[in-house]
Amino acid sequence: MLEGVKDKIRRGLLPQWAFTDSEIFKAEVKNIFAKTWNFLGHESEIENPGDYVTRWIVHDPVLLLRDQNGQIQAYLNSCAHRGTKLCTADFGNKKTFTCPYHGWTFNLSGDLIGIIAGNKVYGEEMDRSQWSLRKIPKVESYQGMIFGSLDEHAEPLETFLGDMKWYFDIMLGRSDAGMEVRGVPQKWIINTNWKISADNFGGDPYHTAMSHRSTVELGISPKDPMYASYGHQIVLDNGHGINMVTALGGAKVPPYQGLPEDMWPMFARNLSAEQLKVFENTMIIVGNCFPNLSFVSPMHGTGGPDEPLTSFVNFRVWRPVSPTKIEVTSWFMVDKEAPEAFKEASYLSYIGSFGPSGTLEQDDAEIWTRVAEASQGEMAQDKDIHYNNVLNYLMGLDRVEPDESWPGPGVAYPTCYLDAISRAFYEHWVDQLLATTDIPANVL
Ligand code: FES
Ligand SMILES: [Fe+2]
Repeated sequence: MLEGVKDKIRRGLLPQWAFTDSEIFKAEVKNIFAKTWNFLGHESEIENPGDYVTRWIVHDPVLLLRDQNGQIQAYLNSCAHRGTKLCTADFGNKKTFTCPYHGWTFNLSGDLIGIIAGNKVYGEEMDRSQWSLRKIPKVESYQGMIFGSLDEHAEPLETFLGDMKWYFDIMLGRSDAGMEVRGVPQKWIINTNWKISADNFGGDPYHTAMSHRSTVELGISPKDPMYASYGHQIVLDNGHGINMVTALGGAKVPPYQGLPEDMWPMFARNLSAEQLKVFENTMIIVGNCFPNLSFVSPMHGTGGPDEPLTSFVNFRVWRPVSPTKIEVTSWFMVDKEAPEAFKEASYLSYIGSFGPSGTLEQDDAEIWTRVAEASQGEMAQDKDIHYNNVLNYLMGLDRVEPDESWPGPGVAYPTCYLDAISRAFYEHWVDQLLATTDIPANVL
């Protein structure tokens, strides 16, 4: 029956119950999130020994830190004694972590180094080395981006990222010293399903003309309803997808998203000729790394009417909390070597447009909440295969051919108003659910 769903998705039809069904949610947690690579943080957030941040892989709390030897470590943020959440701060610097329950103390290597009245209550014989913090089974980085997997057999991170690496290089690897996270990542809750937001960032530039119409009315965005369609939508392997949006009809845009000219020779050093060409002509980069790491790098105003548009790089994780609730963590990033004035302008551009104070973010959150709200009733949840309970992902199906001249990897289509990435995202989603499926037969 799941095969039936996949066939529907190939034909551009997604059952509405896919968003909010509780059995599907449980299966996603086990079959997708516990198997895949999950973004945890950026290396610049934990630059020095003892620096730590606390994060989540869905319901698993993670303590991510740099140890005494400068190595990155990730532990289950749960005491080995009785399971208390060990560290409750979002970030900080420590040499040891002491549990608030009975006071067991762990060092940066996760070793249990202190037990209150240890020898008196456990004797000399309890082997402390058996009671270290539990490590997240796999931790790897690419371009400073740290990912963890709960599956010790997970494929290498670079295999998982696949052709997305080529595009990550443009956003994250163009400068000699890479990127830095500025400020503390912002966090907020949205009452929606993680796929709705991932799908929106991954494959839905079409929503901008309506959802973000206020920006058109304010004169920030062009009146042309096709304005976010120009450029390429690129379907990548493993369910990933990216949109490289250019200006209307090839109109001249500031090269390299308006980054300072002094930095251009550095871009040429770090990127291939093809990457450089694509980057030079792109205005907006927006996409999703399967399953729930989305990113946007647009050009946006910083507030003043005479201010030039300034670009920024923003990554966010849509952490599934329940079928209809996500916790968003959003990182603002900027080239470490950019001039301070640019970093400041870039940050203002970010907080004005995205993050909880950003106008575009609020437009999106309101809409995604409505999708989830309207997808929970009896009619939306009806799984009768004969009942045509499907949503429309038909845009461009069998109508738009790939552009063979695209210089980058992936299947690139010459428009961003297209549901190709969304169809590929949901096809991959079904494949992952099927791979180790224990979904009750009556659900799928
Ligand atoms: S639960 Fe942590 S010391 Fe007891
Ligand atoms: Fe949006």
